[in-house]
Amino acid sequence: MKKHNYSAGPCILPQEVFEKASKSILNFNDSGLSILEISHRSKDFVAVMEEARALVLELLNLEGKGYQALFLQGGASLEFLMVPYNLMKVNGKAAYLDTGTWASGAIKEAKPFGETVVVASSKESNYNHIPKNYTIPSDADYFHCTSNNTIFGTQMKAFPTTNIPVVCDMSSDIFSRNLDFSKFDLIYAGAQKNMGPAGTTLVVVKEEILGKTGRAIPNILNYEQHISKESMYNTPAVFAVYTSLLTLQWLKNLGGINAIEKINNAKANLLYTEIDRNPLFKGTAAIEDRSHMNATFLLENDALQEQFDSLWKKAGISGINGHRSVGGYRASMYNALPIESVQVLVDVMKELEKNS
Ligand SMILES: Cc1ncc(COP(=O)(O)O)c(C=O)c1O
Repeated sequence: MKKHNYSAGPCILPQEVFEKASKSILNFNDSGLSILEISHRSKDFVAVMEEARALVLELLNLEGKGYQALFLQGGASLEFLMVPYNLMKVNGKAAYLDTGTWASGAIKEAKPFGETVVVASSKESNYNHIPKNYTIPSDADYFHCTSNNTIFGTQMKAFPTTNIPVVCDMSSDIFSRNLDFSKFDLIYAGAQKNMGPAGTTLVVVKEEILGKTGRAIPNILNYEQHISKESMYNTPAVFAVYTSLLTLQWLKNLGGINAIEKINNAKANLLYTEIDRNPLFKGTAAIEDRSHMNATFLLENDALQEQFDSLWKKAGISGINGHRSVGGYRASMYNALPIESVQVLVDVMKELEKNS
């Protein structure tokens, strides 16, 4: 039986993507070769990379607006380093919003490069909300934020207006909701949530912000190098990029980000309504900042844990244990999770109420 997979990442991908990706391992494009054994310079793979890069810009409505899409490696964690390397001027300054573990990881990597200003932080309240009403220094080289805080279940619903470049870690909500993506100058996301398997990282960057730091950047960490080599500076993560392309094609066929946003809203609404209605549960994130991707919640009475855990396991649910920093439960409802799986979880929560 296929599980209802709530894993926070790597996570569920569309079933048709798993099927097509499996086929490509045995016989890619009817070539008689596996995707795992062909050159990244082969015509077939170059076409995959080109289509994937173009489809990213199409889905984000960024075509013809001066952006480049890159499929890099090293995870979102390497972007924590590449961003200041490529954007913070020598003796420069950067502004960061601290909304969770990953945001503070990005801050740590930026510090050795120059003055790193934390404009606001919700650390004191265990990151249960998104700080608001902060001031971004207008002389900083860029502002960095994290759109969705995977661990703490919070999501930025609005983004500040500023005169400096805006950089956003969208690892856990890319392609899940419609935003004006042209308000961002650099977006990055590890593939392993809404886009594909672990192993590649998407970077979407407005070219005009690059090349201004005055510092020497090693080629492998230099966005301009990757752009000039069309995302093939070194051997890309061939299979991860191909599987990401399959997921992007699935999303396009579904109707793009507008269509998936409606589905994601319905899923989040279904689960949060039950968390708020059911007296046995409580949400951990401030209501106005609740993530539509990762819902974090606790049992009011820990004594019910064993009973609840056995009920959801019996129902075929997997991956809803909370992160150790929050405890309780975390239901990650990425794009590929069907609403039927959310209904199964809601039914289990109701059953617990009935039995206790
Ligand atoms: C928002 C966010 N940023 C960064 C990361 C780190 O990503 P990676 O493991 O690809 O380095 C994660 C991982 O879950 C994340 O959720």
